Amino acid sequence: MKKIRIGVIGCGSIAQHRHLPEYQMNPNVELAAVCDINQERALEIAEKYGVLSYTSYEELVNSGKVDAVSVCTPNYLHAPITIAALEAGLDVLCEKPMATSKEEAEAMIAAAEKNGRKLMIGHNQRFVPSHQKARQLIQSGEIGKIYSFRTAFGHGGPENWSVEGKEGWFFQKEKAFVGAMGDLGVHKADLIRYVLGEEVTEVGSFVETNAKDFTDVDDNAVCVLKTESGIIGTLAASWAYVSREDNSTIIYGEKAILRLEDDPINSLVVQYSNGEVVKYELGKIQSNESGGQNNTHVIEHFVHAILLDQEPAVTGEEGMKSLEVILAALHSNETKQIVQVR
Ligand SMILES: NC(=O)c1ccc[n+]([C@@H]2O[C@H](COP(=O)([O-])OP(=O)(O)OC[C@H]3O[C@@H](n4cnc5c(N)ncnc54)[C@H](O)[C@@H]3O)[C@@H](O)[C@H]2O)c1
Repeated sequence: MKKIRIGVIGCGSIAQHRHLPEYQMNPNVELAAVCDINQERALEIAEKYGVLSYTSYEELVNSGKVDAVSVCTPNYLHAPITIAALEAGLDVLCEKPMATSKEEAEAMIAAAEKNGRKLMIGHNQRFVPSHQKARQLIQSGEIGKIYSFRTAFGHGGPENWSVEGKEGWFFQKEKAFVGAMGDLGVHKADLIRYVLGEEVTEVGSFVETNAKDFTDVDDNAVCVLKTESGIIGTLAASWAYVSREDNSTIIYGEKAILRLEDDPINSLVVQYSNGEVVKYELGKIQSNESGGQNNTHVIEHFVHAILLDQEPAVTGEEGMKSLEVILAALHSNETKQIVQVR
């Protein structure tokens, strides 16, 4: 079978920790090119993988050397690069948050449709085994009616993760558009939609910058969410959980409480109302602390969708719906009102 020629745009941390190694180990992929506006970085990564190097994404997407790209750049470039790649006839895997506005997200989806190409968003939390098992238990009726949840994603901040460090784009509003809410909150918005199998309909929030004095983007947010069936819960996103990452979710149902990624060994613990406790060891979640070294399965799903001409596991529409929860949270914080998501 012909291999899919891949280009990776943006050679920072997520490209280096996940996209590049996962493409390299995929037997259906030929890693063909990388692009970074920082020429030194582009050359270094190109040499490491033995591929072509570009500093202009326009040149790469129009080079004829690749069939598909990963977009691993700062958030404000997701939409323009994704649209340029789709218009050039390439399939696109774009990192989260999908875009900086609903309009941008819609334009990305429209470009994919118009050009008949795949668009997938890198919401890797859907591929975490504990999350998949929880969704399955809820869908099967095992947990009964779901009443409530709390979900959190927090760590000390991207200073030690991004190749640009403390001076970098993560902390600049014009490039990031949003801070911890876009970096981490959007993962949990997507996860809650995925695990519960329902849309979030209302959001209230406090979205603050109260921990880091060198940035104007949010570093701490707490939101209350309500879903279409009336499940209520909280979502916290933080760059100020200084000593340990929290990536946990707890779901309170009629027949059991599900604790996801809340225990270091048992990634899913089910506490039934009759006193029975079932502990699942399902493998670890990818985290900044683990260096992001586990297989996220995002790349293999993207490649699979291209090869089999199937809808990607996380479509542009799904990415947009998760983004809309974040946009509603920002709106709620500004207006001090509960905001309707749809
Ligand atoms: N799915 C996840 O769990 C996850 C985790 C971390 C980051 N991300 C997302 O991945 C994206 C990149 O984050 P990161 O952590 O790798 O950031 P990073 O700061 O480590 O790297 C960003 C890279 O983009 C490059 N870049 C900037 N402008 C460019 C341009 N015009 N053309 C080409 N390259 C350009 C920079 O030079 C840098 O090398 C962000 O959208 C982020 O939200 C996702």
